[in-house]
Amino acid sequence: MRNTGKDSSRFCRISESEEWIDQAAHILTRTFTEQGNHTWPDIESARREVLECMEEPNLCIGYRQGDALLGWTGLRPMYEETWEMHPLVVDTWHQKKGIGRSLLEEIERIGREKGLRGIALGTDDEQFGTSLSLVSIDRSNIWDELKGIRNLGSHPYEFYEKCGYMIVGMIPDANGRHKPDIWMWKRLYLEGDSRARLRKRTEV
Ligand SMILES: CC(C)(COP(=O)(O)OP(=O)(O)OC[C@H]1O[C@@H](n2cnc3c(N)ncnc32)[C@H](O)[C@@H]1OP(=O)(O)O)[C@@H](O)C(=O)NCCC(=O)NCCS
Repeated sequence: MRNTGKDSSRFCRISESEEWIDQAAHILTRTFTEQGNHTWPDIESARREVLECMEEPNLCIGYRQGDALLGWTGLRPMYEETWEMHPLVVDTWHQKKGIGRSLLEEIERIGREKGLRGIALGTDDEQFGTSLSLVSIDRSNIWDELKGIRNLGSHPYEFYEKCGYMIVGMIPDANGRHKPDIWMWKRLYLEGDSRARLRKRTEV
């Protein structure tokens, strides 16, 4: 059944238990390694990442089904009113069921409660997953390439676009030649909504 994201019991704070931390580390190393990304090649490096994501004032939440963690995400300070999402991962077997979107909606809800104005994130293209990896980027073509970006496989930038994020830039060659990092951003409040934002901020 497709998840609607409305049931708050589906979410947990990863720091609540050693079991969540352990499962979060396994999901991180397994899912990324399966798709050929070796940022967290073993359980120790993944566990270090989870612990870092839990450090104050960072936020780190999971999506659960009973005792099983199916995915998780984190949010950390970047600018005063815009924090960075890092990472977001849904276990391979549970992808494309609405869990990624639900995790975003929940972390955005918490972000709004904290008075954040926006969320930024970088989504790497290390495996030639988008048209941005086919060309050398310089000042003559960067804006046209960003405007005309195409997904060559199943790069997640389209997932983020579906969830309301927009591309705001890129770091060419971030991870090697023709391996850019694509920067995305979402506004958490509508223009002119500053009073609501400030009110919430004082309440939390
Ligand atoms: C990217 C990821 C978090 C998406 O989570 P998910 O639970 O599979 O996504 P959802 O089911 O919530 O998808 C929401 C929408 O985005 C679409 N979508 C999901 N992944 C997509 C992709 N890679 N490319 C294009 N569209 C995608 C879904 O089809 C759905 O579209 P719909 O609303 O039209 O039906 C998940 O695939 C994942 O963990 N991937 C591996 C780790 C990773 O790449 N993380 C992001 C690093 S920046």
